Amino acid sequence: MTYSVVYSSKTGNTRMLAEAIRSFLPNENCTYMGEPSSQALVADRIYVGFWTDKGTCDPETAAFLSELTTQEVFLFGTAGFGGSAEYFEKILAEVKQKLGPQVRLIGTYMCQGKMPQGVRRRYEAMEESPRRQMLLDNFDRALSHPDEADLQHLKDALQMMNR
Ligand SMILES: Cc1cc2nc3c(=O)[nH]c(=O)nc-3n(C[C@H](O)[C@H](O)[C@H](O)COP(=O)(O)O)c2cc1C
Repeated sequence: MTYSVVYSSKTGNTRMLAEAIRSFLPNENCTYMGEPSSQALVADRIYVGFWTDKGTCDPETAAFLSELTTQEVFLFGTAGFGGSAEYFEKILAEVKQKLGPQVRLIGTYMCQGKMPQGVRRRYEAMEESPRRQMLLDNFDRALSHPDEADLQHLKDALQMMNR
């Protein structure tokens, strides 16, 4: 079975997941690895990675997902907020809506991804409040992600699926 790995990544978090997927799968079956492109469409299975933009996938990924027809798809992504499976499920529910009826979703994986320092400065400038503190705490928690454990969990998800 052939596969391709397609990912959109502005600051490198989602690229880390894409590279982990690529390193985990057999070399000889890979037909494409890189940014969203119609070249990726010929594979039997497509691993599609996105960064979270306003609660759903980034626009480049959304455009790519709309081109899928009957392929098998594994969706993976990173988000600045984390720590809750429900939050990731909500994002994934939005992303899944972009898949056509014939596309077969075979698995998903999401983890937290660090954000640029400018975001923290924006939070710091806010008036003191529990919300501001929550945003700062989340920002700091995100700094180490994706970490080794995230990559291991991703590999576990792939292994389960390929069993
Ligand atoms: C314009 C913009 C919008 C974002 N919107 C969200 C969001 O709605 N929810 C969220 O959890 N993270 C959001 N983020 C954070 C990114 O999704 C997160 O840092 C991600 O890991 C970036 O992935 P990348 O390094 O592959 O680009 C946003 C980031 C940017 C720059």
